[in-house]
Amino acid sequence: MAIAFNLAICSIILLGTVVPSKPQIVPLLPIVPPNTFVIREPLVPVIREPLVPIVPLVPLARSQNQVQRQQSKSDDVLDSAPQPRSCSKCEQASYPQYISEADIQIVAKLETPKLILRYGHQVETHYAFTSDGYKLCLHRIPRPGAIPVMLVHGLMASSASWVQFGPSQGLAYILSQAGYDVWMLNTRGNIYSEERQTGRENDQDFWDFSFHEIGQYDLPAAIDLILLQTKKPSIQYIGHSQGSTAFFVMCSERPEYAAKISLMQSLSPSVYMEETRSPALKFMKFLTGGITVLLNFLGGHKISLENKIINMFREHICDKLIPSRICAIFEFVVCGFNFNSFNMTLSPILEGHSSQGASAKQFYHFAQLQGSSGFQKYNYGLILNKLRYNSILPPLYNLSLALTKVALHRGDGDWLGSESDALRLERSLPNCIENRNIRFQGFSHFDFTISKDVRPLVYDRVLNLCGSNR
Ligand SMILES: *[C@@H]1O[C@H](CO)[C@@H](O)[C@H](O)[C@H]1NC(C)=O
Ligand SMILES: *[C@@H]1O[C@H](CO)[C@@H](O)[C@H](O)[C@H]1NC(C)=O
Repeated sequence: MAIAFNLAICSIILLGTVVPSKPQIVPLLPIVPPNTFVIREPLVPVIREPLVPIVPLVPLARSQNQVQRQQSKSDDVLDSAPQPRSCSKCEQASYPQYISEADIQIVAKLETPKLILRYGHQVETHYAFTSDGYKLCLHRIPRPGAIPVMLVHGLMASSASWVQFGPSQGLAYILSQAGYDVWMLNTRGNIYSEERQTGRENDQDFWDFSFHEIGQYDLPAAIDLILLQTKKPSIQYIGHSQGSTAFFVMCSERPEYAAKISLMQSLSPSVYMEETRSPALKFMKFLTGGITVLLNFLGGHKISLENKIINMFREHICDKLIPSRICAIFEFVVCGFNFNSFNMTLSPILEGHSSQGASAKQFYHFAQLQGSSGFQKYNYGLILNKLRYNSILPPLYNLSLALTKVALHRGDGDWLGSESDALRLERSLPNCIENRNIRFQGFSHFDFTISKDVRPLVYDRVLNLCGSNR
């Protein structure tokens, strides 16, 4: 009976046979015939070439900054490695605090490297190849000889998370100005890392991954590339959301990599998710409970942007008084959105760089963690678990292997990170040096990259920790 009910709901959601239950909400997007796993264009199509020539918003300090080198020579001149320093007031003042209306429209459509150039910084693009057949793109604001810091974005995001709103607010620029060599990874499946390699050509194979594979293969490949390019013994790591989750997977599955990270900072540590408040994740968990097998049949797929879950849960982030296209963006519907701390004038930029690609399995895996007390591998159902893990339950990740120094930053408005879950993570980690609550009521999941006050609330402390844990 319960199974049949689940099955019925599941087909409504996944196969799109019935119109969502609350059709009175006027859709903000053009209606498309209900159909799952159809890949649609992003809300604002990201154009590969800029409409106008790139004119930096700020004068370039050095003329050679304009050169975009593709693959940097490994013997980059190690000229006078700058020592990291804290950002001085005068340095901040040389960058505009505000972006003009015209620039907003342009920046919204630029890919990360062009966006960085436009904001007046040098950029390089590098590629790392994973041992299981993915080609990952890293964007770098180079500072040869300086301490490398790798930034890893969250679910459905990209390297643009760290640079989209310009030098006064983007963590990548702030770190670069403070004297670090900044590397931004794009994990498998997002628009910068979607090239099909041999053996991964078909959809089913390509999209068959969760954050487990990102931790097991993507992070080690990226870390090795950076160590090779910079000839440094270790790097620092900053991860937002899934960028944190995958880090702890890596430490459990490839513990030798913990020693290659001198400090890990987690912005919204999404590891233990017993008290997750996301209505959409709770719902997905409810679905995966009884009929994992059906979901497994749907396994390797790109997440569908017009998934019914968006329509069902949209009112949880927006009421009818806030008519914003943001209310229709998948990740904000799932993870929450704080309209009070985001400068809505910048919405076109946010829309242009959101929903950059993810697999359905990533969401299912997070949904499985929801409400459960453990941090465990993907649940394939009893039989497949037995075959794969030799255990009917998915094995737990071993957090005691994460020997890296770790600092946790969490917000009390974060649907994915409750205080008790963060506390439990802190206690599970052998070397947690800080577990910090952001002092701002309602600080939410995406505020770590988009809040207009993110710099004083979060990044100043992040920078401090970077400096004192070199
Ligand atoms: C929001 O951003 C716009 C465009 O950069 C700027 O003009 C405006 O002053 C900002 N508002 C706030 C409250 O920061
Ligand atoms: C986790 O790793 C620690 C350290 O190597 C080890 O002592 C412990 O037995 C492991 N736990 C499990 C459940 O494998």
